[in-house]
Amino acid sequence: KPAPLIDQFARRITYLRLSVTDRCDLRCAYCMPERQTFLPKAEVLSLEELYKLSLGFIDRGITKLRLTGGEPLVRRDVVDLIQALGRKVGDGLEELTLTTNATRLAQFADPIAAAGVKRINVSLDTLDRATFAKLARRDSLPQVLEGLAAAKAAGLKVKINTVALKGLNEGEIPDLIAWAHGQGFDLTLIEVMPLGEVEEDRFDHYLPLSAVRDDLDKRWTLTPSGHRTGGPARYFDIAETGGRIGLITPLTNNFCDGCNRIRVTTTGQLYACLGGNEQVDLRAALRSADPDAALDAALDLAMKIKPARHSFAIDRPGSAPALARHMSMTGG
Ligand code: GTP
Ligand code: 5AD
Ligand code: SF4
Repeated sequence: KPAPLIDQFARRITYLRLSVTDRCDLRCAYCMPERQTFLPKAEVLSLEELYKLSLGFIDRGITKLRLTGGEPLVRRDVVDLIQALGRKVGDGLEELTLTTNATRLAQFADPIAAAGVKRINVSLDTLDRATFAKLARRDSLPQVLEGLAAAKAAGLKVKINTVALKGLNEGEIPDLIAWAHGQGFDLTLIEVMPLGEVEEDRFDHYLPLSAVRDDLDKRWTLTPSGHRTGGPARYFDIAETGGRIGLITPLTNNFCDGCNRIRVTTTGQLYACLGGNEQVDLRAALRSADPDAALDAALDLAMKIKPARHSFAIDRPGSAPALARHMSMTGG
């Protein structure tokens, strides 16, 4: 039986985040510059390669597979991949899911649910159309809300991802939470991370979730929840809304001790840590003479180079991002 993936800090790796495209139809100001250059098609793994790679990971003990982007639903053949991988749910995979901006969910919610996806995460930082257009640099809030309604109608469980941004959506956070809980959605707040140059200085909008937590505590009764999703969020129940929030705090409360994750870019580069540059070329392994053996060796190497933790910091104005690559390369 193939060996499970265990890194040198004895962390069991069971969660793969697989990026299927670096492209996106939005341009969230903290994520990407307006003029982002995208990868030429020839660099990108084919559908067959993505599927083969996923099977290799499942053999090595990956039980949770999340498709990411860019925006995964802008890839033309992504539903075929979701359908193929959906057949592995219950047969190796415990969960197949995706993180999406929801602009195309009205079209895709039904086929995604039919393929075996039970739960999706949707990025949404504001419910105000003008703020959305400013933050995402596209006037797409109506499509996103239509997409969310379609997801709900299709029976998909939804978790909203909201990046907490000082001076942008800061004042709206309680309203966002109340709205999400009213819809039956969980909501996770995220600290902005220093990946890639963007037009703005992330320092100007960095909002530590420790401060947000203090504000929420004044308004509502938060109790730590035993809820786990296998991701980095820590969850709290809110008595008054009857819902749950998650906090993702790479900067104010490190969670790397419990890391169970790796990510692969759409060109087949495995990044052992979101906050590091340690990488292994899986595309070369896939395209070698003996792909199965090469892939196994590459995954063994990944376990050797995965660092203990990231070293993100956003501590002063004008500081260069910790990492040159953007979030859209690895999908987070
Ligand atoms: P769940 O399965 O619902 O727990 O999802 P998730 O939080 O694992 O995935 P999602 O794609 O919704 O990611 C939410 C945020 O967490 C994004 O901003 C990711 O970049 C961030 N994130 C996910 N994994 C890691 C990680 O290992 N390290 C850091 N620093 N951030 C991560
Ligand atoms: N810092 C934190 N979160 C980010 N995301 C994109 N870029 C960043 C960043 N620099 C979020 C998106 C999405 C998730 C996959 O990552 O909003 O919800
Ligand atoms: Fe794991 Fe790196 Fe993320 Fe920390 S930053 S949780 S070590 S991938």
